[in-house]
Amino acid sequence: MESSRLKIAIQKSGRLAEHSLKLLAKCGIKLEKSKDQLLCRAQNFPIDVLLVRDDDIPAFVLTDVCQLGIVGENVLNELQVQPESGNYSNIQVVKKLGFGHCRLSLAVPSEVVYAGIKYLNGKTIATSYKGLLLEYLKDQNVNAKIVTMNGAVEIAPKTQLADAICDLVSTGNTLASNGLKEVEVILNSQAVLVRNPDMNDSLSLLSNRLITRVRAVLKAQNSRYIVLHAPVSMLDDIKGVLPGSEAPTVIPLKGSDDQVAVHAVSDEEIFWNTMEDLKAKGASSILVMPIEKMMD
Ligand code: PRP
Ligand code: ZN
Repeated sequence: MESSRLKIAIQKSGRLAEHSLKLLAKCGIKLEKSKDQLLCRAQNFPIDVLLVRDDDIPAFVLTDVCQLGIVGENVLNELQVQPESGNYSNIQVVKKLGFGHCRLSLAVPSEVVYAGIKYLNGKTIATSYKGLLLEYLKDQNVNAKIVTMNGAVEIAPKTQLADAICDLVSTGNTLASNGLKEVEVILNSQAVLVRNPDMNDSLSLLSNRLITRVRAVLKAQNSRYIVLHAPVSMLDDIKGVLPGSEAPTVIPLKGSDDQVAVHAVSDEEIFWNTMEDLKAKGASSILVMPIEKMMD
């Protein structure tokens, strides 16, 4: 692989895969289809995308095979709490990405009368997240036996391998279809952009360029452009209702002394009740628009 090209590891298939590719596309990265689909070259930016298992992403970043990665906090945090697994604390989280939400939870068979965490004292728990589970049980002063499994954790109670499980939950469908119920949340997780802080200057420059684009995409995604007409007398009241907007631009309206146009960028979604509040304060012709790109 060429060392002058930046490399980013993303999940090949699963919870984060599609969103990760979409994010890169929104950052203007056009990928060439590669035959084996392990490594995709970008046509218009010196970056290669490695499509791998999510669990392997932190190792690729730690060993500098890739300078950047998109991975779930669940996977990263699990490696970071295992002292024997390597220096994963060196990996920097650059930005939470707002997708791939899931939680690491404890679950027990639905018929269990669960009165609290003490129920798990002396019980056996199956998980692929031994590090995070151990830490949680220690915090909660619970003594349980942990059985490590690499997959299909949710079948452990049925097969008498364990009394409870600790696994990822997103929709909850997997738990429900295995006759389990969620009883404690250990960790809330989402996708994060991570980087290896030790890279050469030219890769560091490229990586900063991409990170700036990622920040810009996320900021635009969460922002709205608002245009409205306001009576001059109500301007301050109307500004007060506009959520999270920087100083709005006020433009005179031709042929009108008492009305102005207000343009503002809000860093949050505008809900119907905000529009109703604006209208009640005299605003009219209210437009709320998505923003495609945004850079400070
Ligand atoms: C997790 C977990 C469950 C499923 C839960 O696996 O192990 O199987 O997701 O999702 P649900 O609540 O929407 O049913 P994941 O897809 O993350 O696979 P992995 O752990 O092998 O990466
Ligand atoms: Zn995985």
